Amino acid sequence: MVHVADAEVGLAARVRALTRADHEAAETTSFVTDLMAGRLDVAAYTRLASQHYFIYEALERGGDALRTDPVAGDFVGFGLERLPAIAADLHDLRGPSWRSEISPLPATRDYLTRLAAAASDPPAYVAHHYTRYLGDLSGGQLVRKALRREYGLAADGTRFYEFPGVAIGAVKRRYRELLDAAPWSATEQDRFIDEVKRAFALNRAVFEALATSPAEAA
Ligand code: HEM
Repeated sequence: MVHVADAEVGLAARVRALTRADHEAAETTSFVTDLMAGRLDVAAYTRLASQHYFIYEALERGGDALRTDPVAGDFVGFGLERLPAIAADLHDLRGPSWRSEISPLPATRDYLTRLAAAASDPPAYVAHHYTRYLGDLSGGQLVRKALRREYGLAADGTRFYEFPGVAIGAVKRRYRELLDAAPWSATEQDRFIDEVKRAFALNRAVFEALATSPAEAA
């Protein structure tokens, strides 16, 4: 059923409003607030970057599968892929044998399962794409500043947060226009919003696992 109010407010504004509490819950986990305040260390950030490797590998594999999809393909086409930057960061942070040292935490495995399912479901995929990449272009830029300020990290190790050649403000605007223009039914829009909420919860679970798992586990 199409609600008039829903049709008048674009999907970009709706998802933002309807996931505000989910965003806040992820942003205020102890791992994130401690990282931002300089209460952790480079090793803790490295453990986060290691989990990002698995998450973006699955996210970007899903993007490859949907590159020619008429709706999801436009989002994939922004070219925001992070995997090469994460691999370079992990090389800087852990050394040349980084790949054999890392493994997904159980919470990350749950996230990967969901990402694999989303690879054949465009609204769900765009939900995961939105949650991560728009977050990286927004709060991620504040995380980059905190990593430099609090832990003395330079470009090496923090490439994940750098988008060379990307006009961040313009991309975010265009991204929201594309969300508003997505030719989804009301049901598909609701599924998209629900999946964004799920994506926030999956990210939150990874932060909680990072805060409680032993350092050698990731
Ligand atoms: C250090 C923690 C975080 C901070 C300080 C932060 C901060 C922000 C800020 C200031 C914005 C608004 C930017 C704008 O309007 O241009 C934003 C947007 C966003 N953030 Fe975060 N954030 C954090 C963590 C996260 C996390 C963990 C996620 C998800 C994994 C996330 C996902 C998003 C998304 C999807 C948006 C875009 C909302 C929209 O405009 O539609 N953020 N964040």
